[in-house]
Amino acid sequence: MWAVRGVLLRPIRPPTESRPMALPPEHIPLERYDPGVPPEEAARRFHEIIRRRRTVRMFSDRPVPREAIEQIIAAAGTAPSGANKQPWRFVAVSNAALKHRIRLAAEEEEREFYGRRASEQWLKDLVPFGTDDSKPFLEIAPWLIVVFKLAKDDDGGMTYYTNESVGIAVGLLLAAAHHAGLATLTHTPSPMTFLRDLLGRPQSERPILLIPVGYPADECRVPDLPKKPLAEAVDWK
Ligand SMILES: Cc1cc2nc3c(=O)[nH]c(=O)nc-3n(C[C@H](O)[C@H](O)[C@H](O)COP(=O)(O)O)c2cc1C
Repeated sequence: MWAVRGVLLRPIRPPTESRPMALPPEHIPLERYDPGVPPEEAARRFHEIIRRRRTVRMFSDRPVPREAIEQIIAAAGTAPSGANKQPWRFVAVSNAALKHRIRLAAEEEEREFYGRRASEQWLKDLVPFGTDDSKPFLEIAPWLIVVFKLAKDDDGGMTYYTNESVGIAVGLLLAAAHHAGLATLTHTPSPMTFLRDLLGRPQSERPILLIPVGYPADECRVPDLPKKPLAEAVDWK
């Protein structure tokens, strides 16, 4: 123990176990997950899989079973969320006529975006991706998953940290699709409120992402993009 200006300071000792809390009686024991290998090895294996996820803009029309989409969305739905409010809705579209209408509406917005709305800087930043207002993948990909953010929960109650919560859920969704051998595109036609009308969702639900899911086309190519090296992304303390 030592003193600064007469105040006694105790050395900080980290706790060895989390403090027992007054637990509600309905709590259940944690169902543990053991990867069966040390964490560094498990993390390395996962990184090896996930580093090959890429945003794909050239899809095959090869069918994807509905059960795959169900499992991918179920994985997304395991995400943590503010007060477990799960402020998301995933609308899974495979109907060809509906995909066609979504494509037409998205391309209309994108024509405005590329022709008028986007700043010069934004258009410059998009050059490496070779994107334009043509979105054939919205019809070719067997599935479109439209992600909505909920301003209130299904019982009309509050939702909290909706951006963070839905963002995490979508991260899991992209990882689950990739893990299943499927490709995704996180597409954001701007603005995308047309999706609410086309999909018959209420005003309290705001569309935030339009995600085609499917197999990449045989001739699929992607931009060669660097990812931040760990040393730049992390500040170790
Ligand atoms: C929130 C968000 C919005 C995006 N919107 C679009 C989009 O509208 N169109 C598009 O082609 N790509 C879009 N992307 C994909 C990014 O361009 C892509 O993730 C980025 O270039 C990195 O490439 P990678 O996903 O292959 O690692 C979006 C990505 C995110 C996360």
